[in-house]
Amino acid sequence: MNNIEEIKARIDAVDLIGETVQLRRSGKNYSGFCPFHDNRRTPAFAVFPESGTWRCFGQCNDGGDIFKFIMKKEGWDFPEALRFLADRAGVQLQKFTPEQEAQREENERLRDLLEDAVTFFRHHLLKTEAGKPALQYLRDRSLTDETIETWGIGYAPDGYEFGLRHFTERGYAVPDLIAAGMVTERDSGGVYDRFRNRVTFAIRDERGRMTGFGARTLEKDGLPKYLNSPQTELFDKGGILYGMDQAGRSIRQEEQAVVVEGYMDVIALHQAGFNNAVSPMGTALTEHQLQLLKRRTKKMILALDADAAGNRATLRGLQLARETFDRATELAFDARGLLRQESRLQADIRIAMLPEGQDPDDVVNRDPDEWRRIIANARPIVAHVMEAVSAGRDLDDPKTKTEIAAQVMPLINDLPDAFERDTYLQRLARFLKVDERTLLTDSRGGPRAAGPRYRGGRAPREAVDRQQRAEASPALPPVDSTRVLEVFCLGVLMRNPNFIYRLNRALQKAGLHRLSPHDFQDTGHQSLARSILQAVDQDFDVPEQVLIGSLPLTLHDQADEILARTADLLKHEVRLLEELFVNVIEIRKRNVEQNLVHLKFLLEDAQSQSDGDLRQEVSQLSKIKNLLDLARPLARDRTILNG
Ligand code: CTP
Ligand code: MN
Repeated sequence: MNNIEEIKARIDAVDLIGETVQLRRSGKNYSGFCPFHDNRRTPAFAVFPESGTWRCFGQCNDGGDIFKFIMKKEGWDFPEALRFLADRAGVQLQKFTPEQEAQREENERLRDLLEDAVTFFRHHLLKTEAGKPALQYLRDRSLTDETIETWGIGYAPDGYEFGLRHFTERGYAVPDLIAAGMVTERDSGGVYDRFRNRVTFAIRDERGRMTGFGARTLEKDGLPKYLNSPQTELFDKGGILYGMDQAGRSIRQEEQAVVVEGYMDVIALHQAGFNNAVSPMGTALTEHQLQLLKRRTKKMILALDADAAGNRATLRGLQLARETFDRATELAFDARGLLRQESRLQADIRIAMLPEGQDPDDVVNRDPDEWRRIIANARPIVAHVMEAVSAGRDLDDPKTKTEIAAQVMPLINDLPDAFERDTYLQRLARFLKVDERTLLTDSRGGPRAAGPRYRGGRAPREAVDRQQRAEASPALPPVDSTRVLEVFCLGVLMRNPNFIYRLNRALQKAGLHRLSPHDFQDTGHQSLARSILQAVDQDFDVPEQVLIGSLPLTLHDQADEILARTADLLKHEVRLLEELFVNVIEIRKRNVEQNLVHLKFLLEDAQSQSDGDLRQEVSQLSKIKNLLDLARPLARDRTILNG
C-alpha cells in the first residue's frame, strides 16, 4: 500500500467531509448541501463511504476523493493536501533520520507554544483592563471583533515577565521560549519577554501553522513601529507571505494575487472582502515568496505606495519577479521574415499605484470602491518602469535614451500579448522620440532577446528511420546508451528534485535553455520529466516521497523501475549534481547532433522554398552545439553549480 492508499484507508471520507458539510444518511450513502456553490434548496452533494469519494450533482458537477475535496476546499495544490491529510492520518511521508525526527518534534512543540501564545495575547487584549487601550486602538483602526479573532490579534502586556511566568507555569522550558522567539536573553543571564505593551499579530505560514509574531507599538512615534519575532527555526521572514493561509483559496479562484506592504493592509483588505491580499511584511519580495505565489497564480498585482514605486529596491524586486516566473517559447518572425524563437513571460505582473501618502488600509477603509478602481487600473510593469527610470532624466540625451531603452525593451519583449507588445513599443518610441525599428534592432542583440534558442524535440520518426537506413552515421549515437543516460538523469532528479534549480541556473549561465521534457527521447521519460518539473514548480521543497506520491499512477511502475535501476549507481556517486549536469549536456548534444544530421539530410534533397528556414535552423543548432561543447567543462567549476 502506498502512502496515498494508506491515507485513504485511514481517513473516513464521511468524517472528514462531515466537518464542513452537514451530512444526512440516505441508504448506504450520505447527502447534503454542496459547500462549493450556493444552493440551499436541493441537497445535491453526496458522499460515498465505500469508495471514499464525493460528488456534487448540482452546479459544480465535480467530485473526487478526499484529496480533491481538501484541495478544492482550501485552494491547495496536491502536495499541500497530501501533507495535510498525511498529518491527520498519522502517515509519515518521509523517512526521517533521528536528528530530523527530533527537529520535527521540537518544531511541533514550538508551534504549540506559539499557538498558546496567541490565546495568551488574545486574553490580555479582550479580558484585561491593561488591554483596553490596545482594543480601542484596533477599533479606531476599524477592525471588527471577528477580524481580531480570525487574524489572531492580541495584546502583549507591559512587563518583563508576564509571558515568561505564564508559559513556564504551563510547563514550557526556557530554552523552548528562546527557540520560539518569545523571550530575549540578557547578557547577564536570564531572559525577559520580547513583546511588551504592543498589539500582536499572529504570523502563520501558508498552511496556517504558527511561525511567530509581529507586534506594533501603541505609541504615536514608538520605535520600532513593528517588532517581529527573531529569525527562528519556524520564523523565516523571507519564506513567509503574511496572509497566505487565508488568501490562498481566493487567489486561486480569482486567479490573481495582490501584494501589499503591511500587516494592517492585508487585514483591512480581507475585512472588506478583498481576500486575495498578502504581504511580504515590509521587505522586497524574495524568491521563496514568489514561489509561494507562483504555485497559485500567474497574475500578481503589486500595490505600491508613491515613494516605493520609483525606488531601486522595488525595481530590483520586479527584476527578481520576472526571473522567477516561467517563460514559454513562442515562434516569431523578425523584420527580415526569419524564424526566431522568443521567450515570453508566463506571468502577468502589474503595478497598482496608491494615492500619495496612503496605504491600502486607508483607502479601503475610506471607500472600498476606490480600492477596486485602483486594482482595476493596475498597469503592466513596463508602463511603470518606463516612467520610473526616466523620472528627472534628460530625454534628449542619446545616452539616456539608450539606457532607458535597454531597461524597458526586455519588459516589452516579456509581454505575452502581441497587441500589448506593439502598443508599448509605440509608446516607448514616442516617449524617447526614436523610431520603433531602432528599438527593435537594438534590443535584438541584448541579453534578453538572445535570439535563437534551443529547440528540443525529436525529428519525425520515419525521417530518422530513413536516415538510419541510409547510412550508419557516426553522428548518430546508439539509442540504447542515450536511454541509459536518461535513466540516470531521471534517477538523480527523482531523488533530488530540488537539483533542478541549480541545474537550470548552471545551464542558463552557460547560455543554454532550462531542462525541458523534450530533452528526453523516450516518451515515458518525457512524461516523467514533465511530472517532476511540475512538482518542483508547485512546491519549493519537494522531498522524494512527496514527489513520488504526486506522480500520476500511470508513471508509478516506470518510476519504480528507474529508481531500482539507479539505486547502486547513485550509492557510489558523490558528485551527483555535476554528473547530472554533464549528462544533461550529453543528452542534449546527442539530440542536437541527431537533429543536425536529419536537417542536413533534408537539405540535400530540398526543393522547397523553406530551404532558407532549414539553413537558418542548421546554423542555430550548430551554435547550440558549440555552446554545449563549451558548457561541458564547466561542470568541474563548482561556482557555476553552487553559486
Ligand atoms: N515592518 C516591520 N518592522 C518595522 C517596520 C515595518 O516588520 N520596524 C513591516 C510590517 O510588516 C509593516 C510593513 O513593514 O506592516 C510596512 O511598514 P509601514 O508602512 O511602516 O507600516 P504600516 O503597515 O503602514 O503600519 P501601520 O499601518 O500600522 O502604521
Ligand atoms: Mn499603514
